[in-house]
Amino acid sequence: MLMATSADELRDEVRRRYANSARAVTEGTGSCGCGSGACCADGESPAGTFGEALYDAEQRGELPEAATLASLGCGNPTAVAELREGETVLDLGSGGGIDVILSAKRVGPTGIAYGLDMTDEMLALARKNAAEAGVRNVHLLRGMIEQIPLPADSVDVVISNCVINLSVDKPAVLTEIARVLRPGGRIGISDVVAEDHLTVDQRAERGSYVGCIAGALSKTEYEAGLEAAGFEEVSVEFTHRVADGMHGAIVKAVKTREPERRSLPVVQAAARAGCC
Ligand SMILES: C[S@@+](CC[C@H](N)C(=O)[O-])C[C@H]1O[C@@H](n2cnc3c(N)ncnc32)[C@H](O)[C@@H]1O
Repeated sequence: MLMATSADELRDEVRRRYANSARAVTEGTGSCGCGSGACCADGESPAGTFGEALYDAEQRGELPEAATLASLGCGNPTAVAELREGETVLDLGSGGGIDVILSAKRVGPTGIAYGLDMTDEMLALARKNAAEAGVRNVHLLRGMIEQIPLPADSVDVVISNCVINLSVDKPAVLTEIARVLRPGGRIGISDVVAEDHLTVDQRAERGSYVGCIAGALSKTEYEAGLEAAGFEEVSVEFTHRVADGMHGAIVKAVKTREPERRSLPVVQAAARAGCC
């Protein structure tokens, strides 16, 4: 179990981990399982539960090889977000660019696909992959998902793939998503989610924080967090098992009112315990 003493140290640990992942793909060394795209789970989870295996052959065919190799997600948010021509999409923690490139193709030249990531090495890889894919409507932003560098009410759809579990301040992420979405805007997020009976310590026994396991919210924590941030029509559906009592999940919700900064007791308790 990772014994980080502060949120900043934990975030730095996450950044280092994914900088190494990006370097491994760029250099073709395939260290830490990157060749199979399975870095996110530390090799702790069953094969096929993370990475490129979650995309169908048609989608993989639309992408440069390095973008599929860099896939570290736990789902396929572009398959559930029902993107339409002309929409503005934001991918939180866009990594090597797989979902932002697919989104750019779905929304077409009249739409925009923003990718946001805090790791320079990932941003460089995503830029290279977007250029190779020939998409001109991808905009890659450097920053934190807890402080999204976009104006309020500027985005139609927020997607994300296996990133929110890595955040050290999940209430801030959910409030920021609600801020940047236009009224009526929606989310289609893939993430690791724990069954409700698992304590924070039990989640940490099943895998590391940087490996997307220890920091996962439970289903009820996710639903409560989204509702507190101003979302409605909230659903968190398990799709596949990644560890005992833990699952890849699809998270959907719609913004119908303005976000309010409310206390999120369950989520904050987990954060204090070093989980989230
Ligand atoms: C598990 S990888 C997933 C990458 C990509 N979504 C995919 O499916 O391949 C997590 C990514 O999120 C980024 N990330 C993690 N925490 C972040 C934060 N708080 N703010 C911005 N980016 C973050 C990492 O740099 C990394 O690129």
